[in-house]
Amino acid sequence: MRIGVPAEIKSNEFRVGLVPGSVRELVAKGHEVIVQSGAGAGIFADDGVYAKAGARIVPTADAVFAESEMIVKVKEPQQVEWDKLKAHHILFTYLHLAPDPAQAIGLMQSGAAAIAYETVTDAAGGLPLLAPMSEVAGRLSIEAAAMALRRPTGGRGVLMGGVPGVKPAKVVVLGGGVVGTHAARMAAGLGADVTIIDKSLPRLRQLDELFEGRVRTLASTLETVETEVLAADVVIGAVLVAGASAPKLVTRKMLKDMKRGAVLVDVSIDQGGCFETSKPTTHANPTFEVDGIIHYCVANMPGAVPMTSAQALNNATLPFVFKLAERGLAAFDRDPHLAAGLNVRAGKITHAAVAGSLGFDSLDGTQSFRIAAE
Ligand SMILES: NC(=O)c1ccc[n+]([C@@H]2O[C@H](COP(=O)([O-])OP(=O)(O)OC[C@H]3O[C@@H](n4cnc5c(N)ncnc54)[C@H](O)[C@@H]3O)[C@@H](O)[C@H]2O)c1
Repeated sequence: MRIGVPAEIKSNEFRVGLVPGSVRELVAKGHEVIVQSGAGAGIFADDGVYAKAGARIVPTADAVFAESEMIVKVKEPQQVEWDKLKAHHILFTYLHLAPDPAQAIGLMQSGAAAIAYETVTDAAGGLPLLAPMSEVAGRLSIEAAAMALRRPTGGRGVLMGGVPGVKPAKVVVLGGGVVGTHAARMAAGLGADVTIIDKSLPRLRQLDELFEGRVRTLASTLETVETEVLAADVVIGAVLVAGASAPKLVTRKMLKDMKRGAVLVDVSIDQGGCFETSKPTTHANPTFEVDGIIHYCVANMPGAVPMTSAQALNNATLPFVFKLAERGLAAFDRDPHLAAGLNVRAGKITHAAVAGSLGFDSLDGTQSFRIAAE
């Protein structure tokens, strides 16, 4: 198959759909990979590196789209990219269509088949193409907290691991899923005093076994959340209720009773945030203060470490890219988890939950789902 990799054009996006190592794997299997000149600049992989991996370099995004059958990206296509997509294309990327009807219509009008990383599933009921970015965000959350805790940046002036004779920072992680687990691992590794709070008892049991006593686990109740948050130097917000806005576990009222200069890192900000006082921030200006408490609420945390993020994403996407490259959309027949990624095909929304969120159910009627059911 001819696989195209355009340069990402969303502002501040430094990742790339296929890293050079993935290009090499695909070329070795007999596929052709067409890369836009400069597409790897954000990860310091220049055209020469891609050419050495076997890619054909073309000067423009127009050429990539015109010459490829499948387009592999990172971020949802922007308006100028919808226009380049044609009915014969397969698009494989993050789409996040639910809150974005304009993009949904753009993709429907293109006639292309659009497969969203975020709705591809796995046998354990997880979302394998979201997990790598949660791993990155979880680990990064502790680096962000450690920086924000420093006095010159307005923080409490506490060193994560303390030193012999001085207490370490108290880190409370709300939500012990992928983000929370990786945050706890980093915090414990730095020597912090770590507590994970989750509402799932089976999950708390797993975490207890995983950390072998190095991390405390607590069941999520109003009481435990409040008690732990008030005593914390750092709170990591990592809760997720699938398909819903994040619950506001830390209220504005609680801030007044927290330790001065404590740090809240709201990783759940992309779902509205789990602290009442959160609002999205950017890497350029990541923190703000409310009632003496430092908030870090960057909505695209993995974007800060594109070398790691692009490789982590490729590790997860490449097996699916192979399947699509080998069999095209017929790959769905043998892989229902990949089929769950299909959001748009031949002018229709094909994913029931996405269609429901968009309110397209009524627009397209039952026919919207005919293709998904086939
Ligand atoms: N800001 C970023 O750059 C970024 C990057 C990756 C992920 N995220 C976001 O981080 C959040 C967490 O993602 P994840 O992959 O870890 O999800 P996950 O589903 O693996 O984990 C969520 C956990 O929250 C727990 N939970 C739900 N309600 C709770 C409550 N009231 N109290 C305590 N625990 C509760 C669940 O039991 C689950 O264990 C999501 O909103 C995700 O979109 C943000």
